[in-house]
Amino acid sequence: MKIELNQKKVFYKNGTTVKEIHPFWLRERVIGEEYLDKGTQQRLFDPSTMNGDIDIQNVEIKNGFLEVNFNDGVNSKLDINKLATEFSNDDTVIKVITKKYWDSNLKNVKNFEYKEGFYESKEMYDMLVTFYEYGFVIIKNVPTENNYIVNFANSIGSVRRTNFGEHFNVKSKLNPNDLAYTTLHLSPHTDNPYRNPVPCIQLLHCIENEVSGGYSTLVDGYTVTEKLKNEDQEAYKILSEVKVRFKFTDQNVILEDWSELIHLDDKKQFKQVRFSPRLDYVPMLEKEKLDKYYKARKKLSDMYNSEKNRIEFKLAPKDLMMMDNYRVLHGRTKFDPKEGKRFLQGCYIDFDSTEGKLRHLKRKFNL
Ligand SMILES: [Fe+2]
Repeated sequence: MKIELNQKKVFYKNGTTVKEIHPFWLRERVIGEEYLDKGTQQRLFDPSTMNGDIDIQNVEIKNGFLEVNFNDGVNSKLDINKLATEFSNDDTVIKVITKKYWDSNLKNVKNFEYKEGFYESKEMYDMLVTFYEYGFVIIKNVPTENNYIVNFANSIGSVRRTNFGEHFNVKSKLNPNDLAYTTLHLSPHTDNPYRNPVPCIQLLHCIENEVSGGYSTLVDGYTVTEKLKNEDQEAYKILSEVKVRFKFTDQNVILEDWSELIHLDDKKQFKQVRFSPRLDYVPMLEKEKLDKYYKARKKLSDMYNSEKNRIEFKLAPKDLMMMDNYRVLHGRTKFDPKEGKRFLQGCYIDFDSTEGKLRHLKRKFNL
């Protein structure tokens, strides 16, 4: 892309397309200590209170800068390269990472190794890219003392506290308020579908694992729902249209939220899956519609529970797994507590944490 001038107007050229840049768009971007706070890079003026009918009185290109005099007396030098980063209206850091399809054939996803300085390293950047590609990643050798998982979360971004606390301990206990705290097999599910908003990312840290069962299982909701779209459009359509009620009830709180099992964005592309068949309530629809719905849900459930779509592995002490709770379903196989201890700690972070870190590291390493 290139900037061109013609009769006090500024144009950007992309291939054969030439478009004028609105003078007010440039006026909003003026720099200099009067207009922009040096430390925060935030504006010291409020363009929303100004009239948009700003004109350019004079403009020149010099050494990669656009030198503009506006008709309200403001002059500024604008860095053309910096302006060019805004010509594309698409996100060029996160959304450009292509999601990889995977199923039980998945082999050799790179594990990462925790070490001193990890959070500010290139390794961390690679880890986050892998996370966006596959929807999960495993980091080995993460310290387990003093609920270190919370430090880990807060070193990427900020821990997302819930009514389960800042973090939660996954071990079997008496009178559990969730099946996670039993020794039972847990079929693939996403966490907390009843929250608004649903926690974006779950961290699960293995502290002790002495039992022979208790394998972790993962299923890619993205791959499975894309497969469903290709195989059975009608099922995909109804599951991405009907909103169901998810509900969690405890002594001091009732949490409830409504969503489709397959939630699409405004371009009808994959955005989020929710699946937790022990706490979903389908609305009372016409019988024929519900016939279709139940058939479609059974199909999706069969796919989520199929061995073909699942990977299964055992977490070792100090392994920390990070999962995209909007994309990947997780579960575990049952275990026998008489064989020994099984103790995992979990917590949540939101996408602003991983996105913020990734953008920062990309800037830092000039990638
Ligand atoms: Fe869970």
